[in-house]
Amino acid sequence: MRLLLVITGGIAAYKTPELVRRLREQGVEVTCVLTQAAKRFVSALSLSAVSEQPVYSDLWDLKDEREMGHIRLSREADAILVAPASADFLARLAQGQANDLASAVLLASDKVATLAPAMNHRMWLNPATQRNIALLRTDGHTILEPGVGDMACGEFGPGRMPDVPALVSAMVASKPLTGLQALITSGPTIEALDPVRYLSNHSSGKQGHAIATALAAAGAEVTLVSGPTNLSPPAGVSQMNVQSAEDMLAACEAALPTHILICAAAVADYRPRAVDSKKMKKDGGDLTLTFTPTPDILQTLCAHAQRPQLTIGFAAETGDLKAKALKKRTKKGCDWLLANDVGADPGIFGGDQNQILFLSNKEPEPWPLEPKIDVARRLTQKIIGHFTK
Ligand code: PMT
Repeated sequence: MRLLLVITGGIAAYKTPELVRRLREQGVEVTCVLTQAAKRFVSALSLSAVSEQPVYSDLWDLKDEREMGHIRLSREADAILVAPASADFLARLAQGQANDLASAVLLASDKVATLAPAMNHRMWLNPATQRNIALLRTDGHTILEPGVGDMACGEFGPGRMPDVPALVSAMVASKPLTGLQALITSGPTIEALDPVRYLSNHSSGKQGHAIATALAAAGAEVTLVSGPTNLSPPAGVSQMNVQSAEDMLAACEAALPTHILICAAAVADYRPRAVDSKKMKKDGGDLTLTFTPTPDILQTLCAHAQRPQLTIGFAAETGDLKAKALKKRTKKGCDWLLANDVGADPGIFGGDQNQILFLSNKEPEPWPLEPKIDVARRLTQKIIGHFTK
């Protein structure tokens, strides 16, 4: 794991050389960014010595910018930890400010960060800080709760930076998919009939987007290829928006190679053979349309020269779930298949819950009816098990 450690101004910054050493013992490559205030508590020289990397702190330093510009600094990291995260830095991050290297790096990042707040307990409990924390959580950042105890200022309360072992395990144990890439399809596709009409289905994208969220939280680098939905792109995920099955396949192929593929999209199996360039006119009689099959994205990628290491499909069936899904897994050539009976519970398409029959090369596993985010987390645990066995 390549970790960017952003150190902001607080007394707890003196613990960061030890943090860097412990992270490195776990095989983590650490690059440090210091704010100007942090330099008053810890020296760049110590951090450079323990990390064996240059330490960056100045947005305007020509040498630093040439060597490793702030955009590259944020993009090359697999994960970002801000420790200690001062009240001032949290406020600037919540507002999207970019007036120093540390805040610019976070704003330019395509990842969500783990934040370890450390400050006086009154500053932590202040409604302004709590508002900022709530905003940062909404933006997808992980907030590590500060500890309660004696403070450097002589007061007692919540606001202590989590200790070094807790920070190490937050970065190493909770991000087991760091370094792995995942490609996920989600939502419906829409297949044009003419400039104003299309054919589609009721997929909301909730299941696919939940999987993207859960995998990103576990440290994977996620590309989400989504048909039209009402959902916002999940935090820390790079989303490509598409319309038709053909667009979706092209976007997926462009995202290869990837370690993990999960096809949760409800892709139209057919599209009208011809798309009228003008709005079709109503002549009062029946309308007959000819349909032609769309490309099968899951099947194509499972047989691809750059086949992902782990391929996972869904099966949406109405009745006879197990038999149909077993056949589908063989036909598509995927490793795992999550079968859901969309006839038994009409709420699965578009709803908040799902019930899965999980198929692999072992015995089929029925999962309980549960919120889609829990299905996503259960699947993420399976994926972690697969890659760490
Ligand atoms: O989006 P939600 O409202 O949250 O609903 C979730 C869901 C019901 C859409 C989801 O749980 C689900 O079942 N997704 C797959 C829907 C589907 O199209 O199933 P299928 O049995 O027709 O297809 C089997 C597999 O092949 C799926 O992984 C599908 O993504 C893939 N496929 C299908 C056709 C095609 N042309 N290309 C594909 O990749």
